[in-house]
Amino acid sequence: MEDRKDKNENPDVHITEGLDTDQIDRWIQGNIDGTNPTAMIPLSGNTVTFLHNHALKIAETLVAYKEMMMMYACAMKEIRTKFEVLDMEFKVRYRRNPINSINTRLKKTASIIEKLARYGNDLSLEALELHISDIAVRVVCSYIDDIYRLADALLKQDDITLIAKKDYIANPKENGYRSLHLIVTVPVFFADQKRDMKVEVQIRTIAMDFWASLEHQLKYKQAVPNEAAIIADLKACADVISATDEKMLGIRQEIEAIGDKPTEEDILLEKLSRIDEQFQ
Ligand code: GTP
Ligand code: MG
Repeated sequence: MEDRKDKNENPDVHITEGLDTDQIDRWIQGNIDGTNPTAMIPLSGNTVTFLHNHALKIAETLVAYKEMMMMYACAMKEIRTKFEVLDMEFKVRYRRNPINSINTRLKKTASIIEKLARYGNDLSLEALELHISDIAVRVVCSYIDDIYRLADALLKQDDITLIAKKDYIANPKENGYRSLHLIVTVPVFFADQKRDMKVEVQIRTIAMDFWASLEHQLKYKQAVPNEAAIIADLKACADVISATDEKMLGIRQEIEAIGDKPTEEDILLEKLSRIDEQFQ
């Protein structure tokens, strides 16, 4: 092997000829396996070019990935705003807020990589997008009827397209999981383009959300000694929660049906709206 030290701009890097991409793969694998005798890789002129080209490709992919993440974050923002608007409107119309909280979740890079590895190590941008698009906006309500009212109101909007609807309230999962899932697309307007972005909307009650977050913890535990008993307990809790949700809705409707004695504030508002009508 010819010593290329003299031709190298950096005299500290020892460059030799003759390395090919197979050698680089073996070197990388050796480092992963821990069988590489040295962390140094002898670099040839070709190798430098190879690495340089790949560095560019990696940088380009990273930029495209970040851009995609930004686009999904914007899509979530659009959906969140739509729900905030609906919440405000309901507040004025029905004098109560149907939404307790809205949470948006953009998948963490680590869990995207983990999912990519699980589904066959395809590191293309398309594969990345498939997993990034697994994002969710979670809307938590107090009552079951609000879930369907909000879902209808969202789906009626003419920029929203329904891709799939999974009603895990009408058809709970075997473990007891309940939620209404809507997979929709929403257009997002950027400076020079419009993109239809896919978002999963999960709408559930506070009680269903409480259950789902506890059940979710179980998924990340390995070797649970009394797993069967925990699963059975969770299922029993899900059923109790469902019955309670139904009951709470019934009580609320009963209370609402009771005629209101107008308060001073109500009388004043009524007068104001009559004055408004005069000037329309
Ligand atoms: P994933 O591959 O997990 O995304 O499932 P999927 O694509 O088949 O869709 P599904 O509607 O079953 O689940 C989508 C999302 O709903 C999940 O990522 C969770 O956030 C939530 N989810 C679904 N099932 C369960 C469940 O049994 N327990 C909990 N805690 N969350 C669930
Ligand atoms: Mg999914």
